[in-house]
Amino acid sequence: MKRYLFILLFLCLQVRAEDGYKLWMSYSKIEDPKTLNFYKPRLQAIVWEDKDLEVAVEEVKLAIPKLLGITPKKGGKNGLILKVNPQINITNPEGYKVSVSGQSITIEAPRSVGVLYGVFHLLRCIQTGQEPAGEFSPKIQHRMLNHWDNNNGTIERGYAGMSLWKWYELPERLDPRYKDYARANASLGINATVINNVNASARFLSSEYLVKVKALADVFRPYGIKVYLSVNFASPRILGKLPDADPLKPEVQKWWKEKADEIYSLIPDFGGFLVKANSEGEPGPMDYGRTHVDGANMLAKALKPHGGMVFWRAFVYAPDPKGDRFKAAYEEFKPYDGQFDDNVIIQVKNGPIDFMPREPISPLFTAMEKTPLAMEFQVTQEYLGWATHWVYLASMFEECLKTDTRVKNRKTTLSEILQGKTFGYRHTAITGVANTGSDRNWTGHPMGQANWYALGRMAWDPDLGAKEIAQEWISQTLSRDSKTVSDIQSMMLSTREIYVNYTSPFGLHHVMGEGHHFGPEPWVEKAPRPDWTALYYHKADEKGIGFDRTNTGSNALAQYPKEFSAPFSSLETCPEEFLLWFHHVPWDRKLKNGDIFWEAFVKKFYQGVKEVEGLQRDWEKVKGKVPQETFENVSARLKTQHKEAIWWRDACVLYFQTFSKKALPAGLKAPERTLEEVKKIVDVYHIR
Ligand code: GCU
Repeated sequence: MKRYLFILLFLCLQVRAEDGYKLWMSYSKIEDPKTLNFYKPRLQAIVWEDKDLEVAVEEVKLAIPKLLGITPKKGGKNGLILKVNPQINITNPEGYKVSVSGQSITIEAPRSVGVLYGVFHLLRCIQTGQEPAGEFSPKIQHRMLNHWDNNNGTIERGYAGMSLWKWYELPERLDPRYKDYARANASLGINATVINNVNASARFLSSEYLVKVKALADVFRPYGIKVYLSVNFASPRILGKLPDADPLKPEVQKWWKEKADEIYSLIPDFGGFLVKANSEGEPGPMDYGRTHVDGANMLAKALKPHGGMVFWRAFVYAPDPKGDRFKAAYEEFKPYDGQFDDNVIIQVKNGPIDFMPREPISPLFTAMEKTPLAMEFQVTQEYLGWATHWVYLASMFEECLKTDTRVKNRKTTLSEILQGKTFGYRHTAITGVANTGSDRNWTGHPMGQANWYALGRMAWDPDLGAKEIAQEWISQTLSRDSKTVSDIQSMMLSTREIYVNYTSPFGLHHVMGEGHHFGPEPWVEKAPRPDWTALYYHKADEKGIGFDRTNTGSNALAQYPKEFSAPFSSLETCPEEFLLWFHHVPWDRKLKNGDIFWEAFVKKFYQGVKEVEGLQRDWEKVKGKVPQETFENVSARLKTQHKEAIWWRDACVLYFQTFSKKALPAGLKAPERTLEEVKKIVDVYHIR
């Protein structure tokens, strides 16, 4: 009886192990003989002296028995040697060196966190069948996650449950998940986390909450992760009861200085502040006739004595029905280039509007020569189908990072700019708005884990490709069978373009549901702000569709170096995937493949739906080859995605047809419902 109970328990644990909780750290057993032959003899022992290496050793002790079926003993001459060596010569102090000689593997780094990164590198190599030797250094200093988590446990644009941070339990109870969160991030090299929403409650700066923040920081510290807070610019008024928060007033400056001192007395390695000011109703220095420079530098001065940083966001745009929101961030910030204190970074979204499925790069990246800029990607899929659409975002990150900006009239990728190579930045940073939540598998959609993974890997090395990252992730999560890996990899790599096809072909943008950003709503003409409507962006009429941003229109293209903008400026040479970003394209304009624009446009929506069907078929083929729970979860979500892809197709085709007044291309079956019927689906989401 006892034996059966044991087996039952064992089976339960097995199932548990496959629910996605362990992310890419489930360390399932290696079968490949070559890998086993290489690693087994060299990992029979672990040798270390430094006390700071405890978490690195703990990870080895957890992983090696599972991966290799051996239990490394402590000490000896051979085996895995872990060493902190401040004298070691290395490109970046967070880097590490791995060498293999005889029966040992040595991981050496100037700091203990480097050794920890080295251990995670080793575990990745074991799981991807590679040898580990080499020197490895991050190319970016600040590798961050931004959580848009609120104090009541909700997450702005979060689709995977509630916040990970249990404010009412802190600081006394530490959810074991905090440590697993830190492990996951450290395994990727993420070294910073902003734990609260950019639309920030001042509550986080209260003394009562700071001790809770400290409790989290204490858990994250051994994993090399610094905690940051998003701050409400009006905090001196809200918390400090001052008459206002004017950054030039001495009492306001004093309040921030004392607040910074209080924070650092609790959290000596606190990272700093992230600020959304004078944007979408948030308070800021302009409320008092002051500037971004006044606001950012005041905070910078409060943090400076402690080594803290200010991340000041460039996502600022005044409502202007006649203007072009595309130009806003550049117009707000370009005039201040060179005026920010040396511990300020301006954080810029990848594109000029707002995390669209495909956006051209923000022109600011090409224009701020004297101010370090941070890249802000969005990992949570606000405009990309939430947690029901499978979109592997690394393809999008890669497209953006590899964009040749033509800065200095030569090949200059955005990745190089972010690495500080082009303008000699003193600080470098890549951040991602997190897609994590309290769902057991962290990200809701099981494949969303790969987006967190990719963000971390690309923040460490922005030159890595989506393809290799996908392979790494699959090998550590779903399967190590080479055929299965390559099948899933191809699926992953196709998903972003598929999503673009059925929602945003040819550069169509911002036609998602108003406010909630879910599903299609291209007909929205009224919203609290003109630049939150869809009409503002697509500008469809009888002649054509798209936003003219050339010199006959808003001339936003002039914000880029002219060598970059030149091809985009003419309809003839504009890359077709960006057409509607820059041109009002006539419905009957001939495209490269001979189709007129209307026909090509409609075909993309139909193609997108077909491609989702293809994904469903391909996914069925991996049944039995990946963990069953994940298989079923993804299958079900693909059904939703298919249904919603048809919804997108019907909505966009029927709506835009009211302008083009043209028939569907031959061979395509007209939607089975009317435009009015499709509109009703979205209406549901506006009922309170
Ligand atoms: C988007 C998003 C908001 C968010 C904002 C920001 O507009 O919809 O929820 O607050 O971006 O990045 O600040």
